[in-house]
Order: sequence, then C-alpha cells, then structure tokens
Amino acid sequence: MKTYHLTTFGCQMNEHDSERMKGMLDSLGYAEVGERAGADLILFNTCSIREKADNRLVGHLGEAKRLKAEDPTRVVGVGGCWSQSVKEGVFEQFPFVDVAFGPGQVHRLAEFLTSDSLSAQGYFEFEGFTGHLPMKRERDFQAWVQISVGCNCACSYCIVPSTRGREVSRPLAELRAEVERLAADGVREVTLLGQNVCSYGRDLPRGAKSTFAELLAEVDAVEGIRRIRYTSPHPKDIREDVIAAHAELDSVCEHIHLPLQSGSSRVLKAMRRTYGRERYLDRVAMIRERVPDCALSTDIIAGFPGETDADFEETMEVVEEVRFDSAFTFAFSPRRGTEAATLPEQVPPEVKRERMERLVETVQRHATERAQRFVGRTMEVLVEGPSRTDPARLRGRISHNKTVNFAGVAEPGELAGVEIASATSTTLAGEEALLARLAG
Ligand code: SAH
Ligand code: SF4
Ligand code: F3S
Repeated sequence: MKTYHLTTFGCQMNEHDSERMKGMLDSLGYAEVGERAGADLILFNTCSIREKADNRLVGHLGEAKRLKAEDPTRVVGVGGCWSQSVKEGVFEQFPFVDVAFGPGQVHRLAEFLTSDSLSAQGYFEFEGFTGHLPMKRERDFQAWVQISVGCNCACSYCIVPSTRGREVSRPLAELRAEVERLAADGVREVTLLGQNVCSYGRDLPRGAKSTFAELLAEVDAVEGIRRIRYTSPHPKDIREDVIAAHAELDSVCEHIHLPLQSGSSRVLKAMRRTYGRERYLDRVAMIRERVPDCALSTDIIAGFPGETDADFEETMEVVEEVRFDSAFTFAFSPRRGTEAATLPEQVPPEVKRERMERLVETVQRHATERAQRFVGRTMEVLVEGPSRTDPARLRGRISHNKTVNFAGVAEPGELAGVEIASATSTTLAGEEALLARLAG
C-alpha cells in the first residue's frame, strides 16, 4: 500500500480542501502516515495570504527536497493558493516538485497519480469544487461544507481573487443533500465556507437563485444538525435576513465573524471594501439589537499603505466602541499582483509593529472583559475531546465559539451543560452540570 503525508497551511477553506484530498487519496488506496520520511507521496496544501505564509513553506520544502534526493521514487506535490499564484514558477523555484495544482484542480492530482507520467505536471485552471470529492473528516461530528468558491470582490490588498477565481455557488439542493448525508453520518456541527458567504447564490441560474439566509434555513431544517457556523460574511452584503436567522433559527450559532479591516472610511475606500465606518457600525448595532448576546469577532489590518496616525486612531475608536469578543490582527503584507503592493506611502515596519501592539493589547483586554459575562451561567458545550492542557478534563466549545475546559463525563460529539466558573480572553473553565445534562 502506498503512503502519503499532507501538510496544510492557511485558512479553513484549505483545511476543507485537505480533507477532500485525503478522501480522494484514500479512495486511490493510499494510507496516511504521520512522518514525511515514511511517505511515498509528500504533499503540501499552501497559502499565500501574507508573506509569512510563503516563508514558512520554503523551510518545509527543503525537507521534501532532501527526502526526494534520498529516494527519487518519492512524489512531491504542491497544491493550494501559493501554487496557483506562481503557477509554473513552482517548478522553477523547486525543480524537484513532481506535481503542482491550484485549488480549482485538486481532482487532477488523482489523474496524475494514476498515470505513468514521468514529467512534472501543473494544473492551474478553475475547474471544479473540491466539495465534490470524497471527504475524510478530522472529527466525526463536525464538518466543513463548501458553499461557494472564489471571490468577486477586489480588495486591493488581497491575493485570494487571483488564487481562487470568480465566485461560483453550489446549488441549494445539492448543499441540502450533502448536509443530510453528513447528519445521517453523525455530524452535529457544520461550518459553511465561502470567501463572502453573504453573496451566496447570486450567480446561480435564474429560477435556482437563492440567498444565504435561505440556505441557513434549509440547513437548520436538517434533523440532527445542532449547530451551524459560517465564515466569512462581508459587511457590504450582510443583510437583516441573515442577522434574523441568528435570532430565529435554533442551530445558527450566536457568533458572527465580521471582518472590519479598518475603522477609517478613507482607508476602507483605498482597500476597495465598498463600505465605510458608518455602515460597519450600523451592522453591529443591528446584530446587537436582534441578538444581544451574540459574540462578534473580526479581522483587522494595521499599516495599510497611506494609513496615517489619524486613520489608525479611527480603527482604535471602532474597536473601543464595538468591543469584539476576539480579533485577528495582521500587519499589512504586500502581495504580488495586488494593487496595494504598488501603492506609494508604504508604512514603515516599526510603525506597523507599534500599531499592532496597541491593537493586540486592546483586543485582548476586551476579549477578557467580554468573556466574564459567561461566568456563573450554565452554557451548552459541544464536547470535542480531552483538554489539551489537562487530559483528565474535557474540552469543547459554546455556541459563541469560545473554548471551554471542564470536568465532566460527556462523550465527544455530545452536548453538555457546563457551569462556567472562570474566563480568560481565549478560554472558559467550569464543571459539567450533570443534572442539567442535555440530550445529545
Ligand atoms: N474572504 C475573507 C478573508 C480571507 S483572508 C473575508 O473577506 O473575510 C483573511 C484575512 O487576512 C482578511 O480578512 C484580512 O484581514 C487578512 N489579509 C488578507 N490579505 C492581507 C494582506 N495582504 N496583508 C495583511 N492581511 C491580509
Ligand atoms: Fe480577499 Fe476581500 Fe475577497 Fe475576502 S472579500 S477574499 S479579503 S478580496
Ligand atoms: Fe485561504 Fe491562504 Fe488561500 S488564507 S484562500 S489558503 S491564500
């Protein structure tokens, strides 16, 4: 039996694609191994969102090169967004690579492996959904569902539109059928994935169009699905019907990840985000009104070209006003082929660093303060397994997406009631309320 090792970088969409790659390799008779040295096929699913992602990859490929030199019958494959962004350049930079493919042609990997091809092959068309490939899930009771691929936005800093192509949605009926299959297979929580989930369905043929809110209702109606998460909505497209779904549909989680990027309307314009500070704050107000306890998280970029001290202060003001439950903060990183990479007025690294530090500190403080609202409450926790820090305890997540470490007897995949005793910026701690135990 042939063996493979797969390393995944990047976002949840890449994690999803990797599960599909694994499913496809399983169906070809390959077995997964934990060490690259023991693998006949060494695979990388790459990311190129920031410069750091590119740099990390280079080190890993160094090891693959050495292993390939030791045993030239080994096959080295590089998929994902970095691969797509440099295309044939993969083979120029790393001549020992046998096969390279973008996110739209993962299925071609199977074709390559089953052919007798002796020359290196590259596959970079936008041809199909990885969501159509077999899946090998990381956890029995949680699953990713790819609702669309690609992105029609033109955010001036972002490489994704060029690595994932134009937006294409999967039909509603197909998604419903997939979720029904997952539920029958024991899945309790699904995360719907798209670059801009709120524009889901607009590209579907006339007569088959549907909205993201309709998709949420369809998935909520599937028996057995207890939790629905999704990422990411776009502030320009999120409408009241989606926010209402959080209030009205039982399984839609009390958490919205709404990327802010900047609090300055001037910078947002240069980013081509097509919303301003007021629109963002208005969406937040609507969420807080309709779903008062909803957790809000975000993405923020510090040091976009031309961002002045005053612009950054506006970002800090919005952060202070919204008080996010958590936030991912990134220093602007120029990406090849993007408009922002060529803008004059690039912000010096030390200014980016200072701004990042201030942001991180504030975000951290809010996260800690916001988490205290759970202390003393009994929260419904989807149990994921043993705690990472103390195997005698369990770990799971609440609807608001906070991790909980707790003492209890519940099994992975079950919903347990946990009395929350303490909270930090990232995790909650508590004890299972055995009497309050909810039916799984
Ligand atoms: N489609 C998703 C984002 C995917 S990228 C969305 O629009 O919500 C995830 C995050 O990476 C973005 O929200 C942004 O904050 C950050 N990011 C993207 N390109 C970047 C760059 N060139 N430099 C720094 N951060 C970047
Ligand atoms: Fe990138 Fe903007 Fe599309 Fe998100 S919405 S993937 S940030 S272009
Ligand atoms: Fe994701 Fe990285 Fe591509 S964040 S979409 S894997 S560039």
